[in-house]
Amino acid sequence: MPLLTWNENLSVKILSIDNQHKRLIDLINQLQDAMSSGDSRSVLGEIFDGLLNYTIEHFKFEQDLFAKYGFPGAEDHIKEHDQFTQKVGDLHKQFVGSSNFMIGVDVMKFLTDWLVNHIQGVDKGYSDFLIAKGVK
Ligand SMILES: [Fe+2]
Ligand SMILES: [Fe+2]
Repeated sequence: MPLLTWNENLSVKILSIDNQHKRLIDLINQLQDAMSSGDSRSVLGEIFDGLLNYTIEHFKFEQDLFAKYGFPGAEDHIKEHDQFTQKVGDLHKQFVGSSNFMIGVDVMKFLTDWLVNHIQGVDKGYSDFLIAKGVK
């Protein structure tokens, strides 16, 4: 059972970004599946690496658009990205540094809640601005 399924409420009406959000949701679900089917640490580690790297890549994509078009809400938005990247980086470090560390339900809940709240709150805040600039 996926933790999270993408639905129209999560759309920012920009296809390239919706696709990236779908991929992030997919990675969180893969992590959840790997956890519940008792996959090895190395499999979990690989998915966790992938999630961290793709998150960084996705944030950069958004931030490059902010810079390119002079989005006025950039500063606060980037702050949210930075805090989340830091937190996921810490969780990843904890995972790597401990031999029997499991990715807990609380961590999975944090990842899904953050992503949904960020997309529906902060990310939707750039939709009209970037669409008006012709971003697709
Ligand atoms: Fe986003
Ligand atoms: Fe964002």
